[in-house]
Amino acid sequence: MSSSSSTSTPGVRQADFRFRCIACGDLSDKATQDFRCVPCGDLLEITYPRWRESKPDAEGLKSAWRNRRLSQSAVDLSGVWRFRDLLPALEDDGEAITLREGNTPLYELPRCARITGVPRLFAKHQGMNPTSSFKDAGMTVAATFARRAGFRWVACASTGNTSASMAAYAARGGMRSLVLVPEGKISWSKLSQALDHGAVTCQLRTDFDGCLQLLQQLVLQAPVYQLNSINPFRLEGQKTLAFELLEQLGWHSPDHIIVPGGNLGNSSAIGKALLEMRDLGLISRLPRLSVIQAEGANALVRTLREAQGTKLVTVAAETRATAIRIGNPASWKKAVHALEATGGACEQVSEVEIAQAKAEIGAEGIGCEPASAVTLAGLKKLVKQGFVKAEETVVLVLTGNLLKDPDFTIDFHRGDMFKAGTESAALSPLRHPPIVLDATLDAVIRTLEQAEKARS
Ligand code: F0G
Repeated sequence: MSSSSSTSTPGVRQADFRFRCIACGDLSDKATQDFRCVPCGDLLEITYPRWRESKPDAEGLKSAWRNRRLSQSAVDLSGVWRFRDLLPALEDDGEAITLREGNTPLYELPRCARITGVPRLFAKHQGMNPTSSFKDAGMTVAATFARRAGFRWVACASTGNTSASMAAYAARGGMRSLVLVPEGKISWSKLSQALDHGAVTCQLRTDFDGCLQLLQQLVLQAPVYQLNSINPFRLEGQKTLAFELLEQLGWHSPDHIIVPGGNLGNSSAIGKALLEMRDLGLISRLPRLSVIQAEGANALVRTLREAQGTKLVTVAAETRATAIRIGNPASWKKAVHALEATGGACEQVSEVEIAQAKAEIGAEGIGCEPASAVTLAGLKKLVKQGFVKAEETVVLVLTGNLLKDPDFTIDFHRGDMFKAGTESAALSPLRHPPIVLDATLDAVIRTLEQAEKARS
């Protein structure tokens, strides 16, 4: 696979890195197993001190990244490691555990553009990754560093996608994996991925927040490497979503990037990437990064509205968008920083709004999971508030694939999702329930005629 050698970047050295505490700024070369700052206990981020003395050359980076698209080496074929100059350095290219993650499409959304009144509307579909969610971009980096550190076991708490991704990358890298998920609160598709890739999968009688709390205690007592997004290597990998997006847009910044918010790792990673791109001269203008949450899992919305972003307001989370059913988001401070630094907004959307937006994206021929659809629902609100203007360019980050949660889609189309009378009239035209018929030509032709009439 890696018979040909990868492309090196003239004048650009891969990044030496250090850990920096986001609260007290303490710098260290090593992280403890819980990835918390030793002096103050807050979260760590990865920083590249060498960039101060010798900034990587922006044009050199752009052309190296473009040239690597022609290479057949495993690290160049990865849409994450292709950007490795701005990631923690590999000792050698063969070290990367990769499934050719990244390389995800940027789609135009003409139908949703008409609905929202924003003609330049795009979707960056991270559900087109190897395990069908955005988690793979972070996992390839963090799993690689877990193996380098000599760990045999990796572990995570998850609402499903992290566990699916971790299990796959651990299996590829020859490590064992331990998954903690809330019993009955993750989709079967995601659970089946973890099982298929050999994870030891524990369904705990608690919610995601309970699983994460337990994991954080576990890593202090057992030699397991934690792969939640508290792990700053995960966020470094997830930054590449933004690098790839800007490359796809010809390095012209969109006005807005809109992401779903759960544990708030992804918004933190994208925010970090945008600031790094600006500081390194890769882009001249910062897009605004906005975060959308489900009304029933709106910890960041409340943290900003009730505490002006100074202290976390936790909630008892409930939403059918189970991927973001999180009430005590670990990376809230990083996300607040990303919103403030880019001037983005934070909004919440209802269950009906999520279901409607998911069906509208589906009607474009693009399948996403419910958590991803909060972005379109949120955009509608931001347009109404005047925060997003019709002439602006907007990118929605779709975080997971439609097939991640087929129950949601089937319940929606069958009309089993909401209690009678509670749903908006806007939902009916979007529903396409399966039709049971006698196996006769007549019956099928009649159905076709009825469907044609209903459309016109
Ligand atoms: N969208 C999907 C499809 C997700 O799976 C998640 C998080 C998010 C959005 C929110 O991203 O946590 O970075 O703010 N899923 C995690 C998991 C928590 O365990 O799979 P976030």
